[in-house]
Amino acid sequence: MGRVLSLIACGAGGIDGLRPGLVAPLVDAGWTVAITLTPTAGTWLSADGEAGALETLTGLPVRWASRLPGQPRPHPDPDVCAVVPATANAVAKLALGISDNQAMTAANEMIGRPDVPVVVFPCINLAHTRHPAWAGHVAALESAGVRLLSRDLTAPRQEPGLPWALIREAITRAR
Ligand SMILES: Cc1cc2nc3c(=O)[nH]c(=O)nc-3n(C[C@H](O)[C@H](O)[C@H](O)COP(=O)(O)O)c2cc1C
Repeated sequence: MGRVLSLIACGAGGIDGLRPGLVAPLVDAGWTVAITLTPTAGTWLSADGEAGALETLTGLPVRWASRLPGQPRPHPDPDVCAVVPATANAVAKLALGISDNQAMTAANEMIGRPDVPVVVFPCINLAHTRHPAWAGHVAALESAGVRLLSRDLTAPRQEPGLPWALIREAITRAR
């Protein structure tokens, strides 16, 4: 049986490639992909109809708001959690356990669950990494077992889009 991915996406560059680069290939490979967006990402992806296209593709609601207390959970329990793309803001919140929206609530809960591996791709620039709090955030997440992916931020030219093959492989291998 296919595995279930809880995919958390933030308001970062490259999110426009989420469906072709990550969601469609995983659905084709038999994964169930349950998507939760930060409020910023929800605003972006609903503005151009992309959130609806992701719902059609995954067969599940794309969430960016909390359910009411009496409502059932709209997403299945995940086998793997991925935060892709993760903003610098989201990395800081996850390192500190701040759950001020549905996306951070879902990701923080999974970081605390030893049975669910968590993969994070921070979509950041060199300035983000030079912030005095950055190294501590990375250390906190790695000490919790979070798999932080990275790319060479010093390269003179960045490839357009996100390294989707690397991200897919990390998710597929996560145990
Ligand atoms: C067009 C655009 C692209 C952005 N790209 C990034 C990015 O790649 N990485 C990042 O950390 N923030 C980026 N930001 C800033 C975030 O959207 C902003 O910090 C926002 O508050 C993040 O909210 P979230 O973490 O809840 O999604 C971008 C903003 C805009 C308007």
